[in-house]
Amino acid sequence: MEKLVIAGGVPLRGEVNISGSKNATLPLMAASILAAGKSVLRSVPELRDVLTMGSLLKKMGAGFSLRDSVCEMDTSGLNEFTAPYELVKTMRASVLVLGPLVARYGQARVSLPGGCAIGARPINLHLMGLERMGAEIELAEGYVKARAKRLNGASIYFDVPTVTGTENLMMAAALAKGTTVLENCAREPEVVDLADALIRMGARIEGAGGSLIEIEGVDELRPYGHDVIPDRIEAATFAIASAITGGDILIKTSRPDFMDAIMIKLRETRVDAVKTPGGLRVKANGNSGRPASVNITTMPYPGFPTDVQAQFMALMCVANGTSIINETVFENRFMHVPELQRMGAQIVLQGGMASVTGVEKLKGAQVMATDLRASASLVLAALAAEGESEIHRLYHLDRGYERMEEKLRRLGAQIRRVPEQRG
Ligand code: EPZ
Repeated sequence: MEKLVIAGGVPLRGEVNISGSKNATLPLMAASILAAGKSVLRSVPELRDVLTMGSLLKKMGAGFSLRDSVCEMDTSGLNEFTAPYELVKTMRASVLVLGPLVARYGQARVSLPGGCAIGARPINLHLMGLERMGAEIELAEGYVKARAKRLNGASIYFDVPTVTGTENLMMAAALAKGTTVLENCAREPEVVDLADALIRMGARIEGAGGSLIEIEGVDELRPYGHDVIPDRIEAATFAIASAITGGDILIKTSRPDFMDAIMIKLRETRVDAVKTPGGLRVKANGNSGRPASVNITTMPYPGFPTDVQAQFMALMCVANGTSIINETVFENRFMHVPELQRMGAQIVLQGGMASVTGVEKLKGAQVMATDLRASASLVLAALAAEGESEIHRLYHLDRGYERMEEKLRRLGAQIRRVPEQRG
């Protein structure tokens, strides 16, 4: 186990390159199952979750390699259709192999993901869609067993916009017989990136990025070559790192057009956030240095992303005034609050609402990461805090951020990764 040791109070300045999107990479890796042969993915981040998805593909008999941000998946030898509990429990996104396996091989056995730190996160909508497409779904011993001679096109309505639900069913529909209409879809850029790759494989898809997606099934798909879009959540994290430390960072290889809600909210805090060719530049509020307090409500894309809620809360902890943070997507995504309070943050929770009263300075402390974005929030708070902080349970951070401490150090952060002492 390792921990991060951070000496806070240093304004971060310079340039950072954003890695490929984790939440685009994972469905794209699952999509390789839909075609025989070798698919190639470029700009892939070296993350724990990517390696976990690679292990899952290898366990199913497919080839997987990741070197210098290029991922190769060869599904010619795929002969196993199970996603086992020991892998799924470490990464819920394993459920993304369900649709492709049923669509290509007519069968799948995928462990139910179980809950996670941020909420129950059911997959009922994934299963509802597959059933409407004619799959027989059985739940037994904690596993979903799905079978179908061939999936049929269907009309499917999502009670709530689900990102991986939309992705799973778009992949399943690509090889179904007939046309599928998905309604109330998730509109995230990662859904669009997946649709772009599927179309390159020969799929017939219209409307990705909107609430209604129409997929006309084909009999066969071919492997793809694809460049993953940049990670908008990592870009937002570094934008907030600049704001919270009083810095000035040029965030390169990023797509600010995916980040309207974040840019608007950062500007409301009087942070200077401007689009540049190939990225964005974020400078802290030049006058008093402290951001203005601003209210946010997390919503499905294009609303303010729930994956940036914890990081934005860290910024509001040092803002001038009180901000209300309303988390509407997940029922328990405030695990970072007790840890921020250990650093002197003034936060009051009321159900899905957090009321944050900014303080002049946070104080360094020993804190514990609980989930991926909570750990990013603690890093940001520690970078701004007076004194030294230690962040424990780093494996949460490593799931979604590629070489984060290296990128931060290059921006001037006093940060190092050290082994946890035993005992
Ligand atoms: C994706 O998770 C992301 N993960 C999450 O990012 C992100 O927080 C989330 O979308 C919301 O944007 C990946 O893309 C791999 P959902 P997903 O299905 O698809 C409910 C990170 O930090 N729901 O869009 O699992 C669900 O409970 C991770 O990178 C059902 O009720 O989220 C939630 O309240 C964390 N039934 C809401 O929908 C279902 O069948 C949105 O969940 C499916 C979802």
